[in-house]
Amino acid sequence: MGWLGLVLSLLAWPAFAAGPADHAALAPTPPMGWNSWNHFGADVTDADIRHAADELVSSGMAAAGYRYVIIDDGWQGQRDAQGELHSNTKFPDMKSLADYVHGKGLKFGIYSSPGEKTCGGYTGSLGHEAQDARLFASWGVDYLKYDLCSFRRHLDGKTEAEQTAMMKAAYRLMRQQLDATGRPIVYALCNYGWGRVWEWGAEVGGNLWRTTDDIRANYESMMFNANAQLGLQRYAGPGHWNDADMLEIGNKGLDEPETQRTHLTLWAMLAAPLIAGNDLSAMSADTRDVLTDKEVLAIDQDPRGAPGNRVMQEGPIQLWARPLADGTLAVALVNTLNHSLNATLDFKALGLTGSVQAHDVWQHRDLGRIDQQHVFEVPSLGVVLLKIGKPQAH
Ligand code: GAL
Repeated sequence: MGWLGLVLSLLAWPAFAAGPADHAALAPTPPMGWNSWNHFGADVTDADIRHAADELVSSGMAAAGYRYVIIDDGWQGQRDAQGELHSNTKFPDMKSLADYVHGKGLKFGIYSSPGEKTCGGYTGSLGHEAQDARLFASWGVDYLKYDLCSFRRHLDGKTEAEQTAMMKAAYRLMRQQLDATGRPIVYALCNYGWGRVWEWGAEVGGNLWRTTDDIRANYESMMFNANAQLGLQRYAGPGHWNDADMLEIGNKGLDEPETQRTHLTLWAMLAAPLIAGNDLSAMSADTRDVLTDKEVLAIDQDPRGAPGNRVMQEGPIQLWARPLADGTLAVALVNTLNHSLNATLDFKALGLTGSVQAHDVWQHRDLGRIDQQHVFEVPSLGVVLLKIGKPQAH
């Protein structure tokens, strides 16, 4: 930041200073949207973003809750003599693009880095945080993904404690600059879990933070990211979420009905942000049906905001549970074997006794009362997702 930027932002800061409560209000439930990276990578263009916005609406995804259209890496051009960052030729007019997205009733997200360069080698925000925050706000940005990338270079040779302190300072600095613009902006930290970000992500004003390295479009990678959230439940809740990374549902490698359902089920059990990453213009009916399943999305977006946990594993079968606001329990039987398996619910692990009312979430079907002996056939690499218990009236 130049001296003028520093003076201006310090002057502006007290007037707009937002507290933790205001930050939390930006994401009372895990953010939902679409991001360009998993399908388009750095080749993304203005037209791709406009089409994604169109298709979010026409596919029913927007109505199902996917609101943020996020341009990931690859939009940045160069800084001019005044240090002002310009978009590259693939994005001729960011303001008009943001207006287009807003005109569809959607929110607009963008990507930068606390380093000199982004992971794709594009211009980052280091030294220009206030200027970039003002630029983003002037375009109408509602969501910023801030990716560590080349900032890692500055951490070389430092102790772990020093590295954590430096990352906290860098992430806090951008939050302050975003707040100083007066525009409410959801803040997505992306530092791959370095420095145990879950311990300080909320403190520096983050609404979500990546806990792992990048997801890939295959079953193993998706399961790795889901299992890597274990033990992190207590760090997430309304306003601040563990981010298991963007969805690969519908991308080649994660486009089978069962694996797509497993992916969405686990993210819903984890109260993870749901940021789709597929090519919406080529979306199959299967993928659309999975991504827009109202009952599964309602579990992800449950207002209690208590992430679930894996409560049992027996060989290839996992049992996950998540307490919901209406007093019911979401329960997922996950079969990691490439062959279907019969499984019963471990009532003890779930804290259940006798018989309980059950609803099959993916089948949208009440099962009546079930007990410990009830056998479920769990498809190969698939899931059975249930809501157990009687909803309590409010
Ligand atoms: C990675 C990040 C990805 C994507 C990519 C862009 O560091 O984890 O989600 O943003 O950079 O270059």
